[in-house]
Order: sequence, then C-alpha cells, then structure tokens
Amino acid sequence: MRAVTYDSYAPDDSKLHYGEVADPKVGPGQVLIQVKAASVNPVDWKVMAGGLDPMMDCVFPVIPGWDVAGVVTRTGPDTPEFSVGDEVMAYARKDAVSTGTFAEYVAVAAPHVARKPAGLDWAQAGGLPLAGLTALRSMDRLGVGRGDVLLVHGAAGGVGSIAVQLGVALGARVIGTASERNHEFVRGLGGEPVTYGEGVVDRIKALSPSGVSTVADFVGGQLETTRAVLAPGGRHVSIADPTVGQHGGEWLWVRPDGAKLAELAAFVEAGRLTVEVAQTYPLDKVGAAFEASRGGHTRGKLVIVP
Ligand SMILES: NC(=O)c1ccc[n+]([C@@H]2O[C@H](COP(=O)([O-])OP(=O)(O)OC[C@H]3O[C@@H](n4cnc5c(N)ncnc54)[C@H](OP(=O)(O)O)[C@@H]3O)[C@@H](O)[C@H]2O)c1
Repeated sequence: MRAVTYDSYAPDDSKLHYGEVADPKVGPGQVLIQVKAASVNPVDWKVMAGGLDPMMDCVFPVIPGWDVAGVVTRTGPDTPEFSVGDEVMAYARKDAVSTGTFAEYVAVAAPHVARKPAGLDWAQAGGLPLAGLTALRSMDRLGVGRGDVLLVHGAAGGVGSIAVQLGVALGARVIGTASERNHEFVRGLGGEPVTYGEGVVDRIKALSPSGVSTVADFVGGQLETTRAVLAPGGRHVSIADPTVGQHGGEWLWVRPDGAKLAELAAFVEAGRLTVEVAQTYPLDKVGAAFEASRGGHTRGKLVIVP
C-alpha cells in the first residue's frame, strides 16, 4: 500500500517519505480500515520530533497519524462487532508509536472503533476522534452541565471548537478565547468569543462578572487567566499544561475509546455537534499539513485524504 513514513526522529518534515510499504497484518480483535480520511493533530509532528520518546516506544519506520475514518475491508479472528463494508472511525493510537493512519489502510483494535455518524462526511469524521474524545474527556472530568459557565481557552482549534459545542449541548454557557478573525466562527458554535492576550481577564469578567465555574485549557500557559476568573469552588483542566495539577487542576490525556466515540457520534446524530474542516491535503502533502498545524492557528481540523 502507499503510506507516509519516517525512519528517525526529526524536528522538521525532512524525514517524511511517501511510497510503498507492506500491507498491515490484521490480528485477533482488529479490523482493517481502508482510510478515507485521517486528520492531523499537533501531536503527530510533536511525536516526529521525538517529544513523546520518554513515555512511548517507537518502532521505525513510523507511519504517522492517529485519527481515521474509513471502511472496514477485513476483520481479524473473533471480531464480531464489525463486518466488511462498515463505515467507521477511530482514534487509532497504539501502545507504541508505529503504524498510523497516513496510509491507504490501517489495522485498529475493535474496542477503539465506532460507527461513523451519517451526519459527517469523510473528512469531518476523520477529524473527530482524537479532538472529539479529548473535548468529551474534558467535559466529563469537569462535570459540565446546566448552570455552569465554561471558559474554553483555544475555542477555535480542533479540540476547542468541539468542546464549545459539547459545552453548549450539555447546558452550559460557554465563553471561548479566540482571535478576532474567529469570533464569528465561535459564535456559530454557540459560544461567546473573547479575544485572548492582554486584558482578557477584564473581557471575561465583563461577560460574567462573578467569574466562571469551569475552565478547559486547550492552549497551555493560561494558568494566570484561569485563576483570575475561576469562581470559588470552580474546576479546571488542561490538555496542554502538565503543571496544572500543582494549581488545583487536572492534566488530561486522551485515550482511544470506541464507546466514548459512539457518544460523540450520538451528539452528531442529535444535530448538536459538527466538525469544521479548515483544509484537506492528499497523502503526499502531509508535510504541508504539518507546517500549517505548526503555525498554531488552524480553525477546526486539517485532514489528510488519501
Ligand atoms: N493531552 C491531550 O490528550 C491532548 C489532546 C489533543 C491535543 N492536545 C494538545 O492541545 C493543544 C491544542 O490541540 P488542538 O488540536 O486543538 O490544536 P490546534 O487545532 O492546532 O489549535 C489551533 C487553535 O489554537 C488557537 N490559539 C492559538 N493560540 C491561542 C491563545 N493564546 N489563546 C487562545 N487560542 C489560541 C488558534 O486560534 P486563533 O487562530 O484564533 O489564534 C487556533 O484556532 C496542542 O498543544 C495539542 O498538542 C493534547
């Protein structure tokens, strides 16, 4: 099959190679998915730079990419949950950095797979798993619900744009930080946008004078603002600041989870959640997609379409 690979860590895209590799094996409890779309997440180029080496083994050559939407073309032994032809999606991270989704096919453990909701096209479904599971995990850990005022740092990004919609669907009032060019976008998701940077605390307090009850940080480096606006007894989590635990918050790390992915699909089917796709790229342009992601200002998701 055709795939993107790299055979050593690199801080840039110089090691990315596009070419033929062996087809994946399909083990017990796995399904083989023909990739229709595979989104880019910042972790993909962070992994390529060796950023996760202290915590994850790496088997070179690596096929990058952890998100997939596609069609089941084969099932491994004893995988009754899925059949050939099923349209599915998955957060396909494995225990070691190894065979990912920027390829024509990927083998994924069935418990990590869920059915693709009809309300998303392939590119949108490919953009949902990692970012969506992260956003949902954040809502779950914060216990977001009716009566909450939720502040989302990074409301226009892959995770943030989904979290804003989930917060609204769960009954919260959602305030989201974004640059001005994204304010209409955040409003369209149901959030109240505020510009980040100097004066952000005053702008948040102008919207909610008694502060916010919950904060989800999807940017990092936001503790000062979080602490200034969090009402007494409030809860906060971060996916981008490992020090948050020292300040009364929780640092979250998304897990592959087909059942939780099905919960996200239900939000889609209920008309409460969609996925914004900023741009799609062919498989041989993963480097260009990584470059765009490194820029840090993607609205929604960047998606690879083989
Ligand atoms: N721990 C985990 O499980 C986990 C899971 C997923 C992601 N992450 C990490 O979380 C971060 C976000 O991921 P992502 O996929 O959402 O990234 P992303 O889609 O690349 O985020 C881009 C967004 O960040 C916004 N942004 C940039 N600087 C900002 C600031 N100072 N304040 C508010 N918004 C700002 C940009 O909005 P503007 O263009 O309006 O500036 C843009 O919309 C990354 O560091 C990623 O590696 C961690």
